[in-house]
Amino acid sequence: MKRILPLLTGLALLLSGCGRADLSVLNPQGPVAQKQYDLIKISISIMALVVVVVFAICIYVLIRYRRRPGDKTIPKQVEGNHTLEIIWTVVPLLLLLILGVPTIQTVFGLAKDYSHDKNAIHVKVTSRLYWWEFEYTDYGITTAQQLVVPSNKKIAFELASGDVKHSFWIPSIGGKLDTNPGLTNRMYLEFPKEGIYRGKCAELCGPSHALMDFKAQSVSPASFDRWVAAMKAPAVMPADAHIAETFRSKCLSCHAIGDQGTNGAPNLTGVGGRETVGSILYNDVSPGAAEDNFRKWITDPQKVKPGTTMPSAADNQLTPDEINGLAKYLAGYKLNY
Ligand code: CUA
Repeated sequence: MKRILPLLTGLALLLSGCGRADLSVLNPQGPVAQKQYDLIKISISIMALVVVVVFAICIYVLIRYRRRPGDKTIPKQVEGNHTLEIIWTVVPLLLLLILGVPTIQTVFGLAKDYSHDKNAIHVKVTSRLYWWEFEYTDYGITTAQQLVVPSNKKIAFELASGDVKHSFWIPSIGGKLDTNPGLTNRMYLEFPKEGIYRGKCAELCGPSHALMDFKAQSVSPASFDRWVAAMKAPAVMPADAHIAETFRSKCLSCHAIGDQGTNGAPNLTGVGGRETVGSILYNDVSPGAAEDNFRKWITDPQKVKPGTTMPSAADNQLTPDEINGLAKYLAGYKLNY
């Protein structure tokens, strides 16, 4: 017991993360995740029932029919017994039927294609080592790392990869689906409750696979319209002329801001308003954290996310003043929506 106690405590702690509304499959926050959760419950219940019944019969038989001292007789042979064979063929068939019907119904229902539905919001997702790009084809805007969606619509995703295979997953909303290079996968999700949900890469893709997070932010329809307008508004450059020139020559060679597309790196429009820097450095932990996070990220991105293609401050020949200026500008670049 003394040895088992720490193990149980550890497991309890581990499982306490299982109910998080922004992260957990076991706490569904939308109809897609709810249907998937219902399927999980049916299949686990049936499997648990089978395990319990089989083990109960097995243990009963072991005890009840064990060889008693002095008993030398041969037990009754049941090989080829039709009744028994019919029972253990029909029962699993029935169980599979009970499991199969709702599984097929749900899976085919969730595969409904909304890519041509005018009422849906269409988002093209491109996964890259180790970040996510979201292109809103209805609006001509592109953002990265923080997907913003209206709470009252179906979101039709087109998923592809810009490099290796990744997998798009928002555990408490639904998913997951692979993103492949040169192949488009489609799925839809709904985000009825406003809030920020954590997204994950669910396919081992390299050293920073576990750090390849993104956020999905569900907002009211009015707030979504404000966000779209803010994304399309002219980009805001650093106020300081030297920092602006540094930003233009060192950052905008790969990144983009404003209503333009991507230059191969995450679009930075309103980047200071995102929940994280680099998808894993959280900005809401303390006042000023965002600026610190940008400084950390710009200075040595390999330390934060091994294998990222973002060059370090040394590679970019940035002075400490330039790093500070850029961090301050980026942390302050927020959109009102
Ligand atoms: Cu991308 Cu794992």
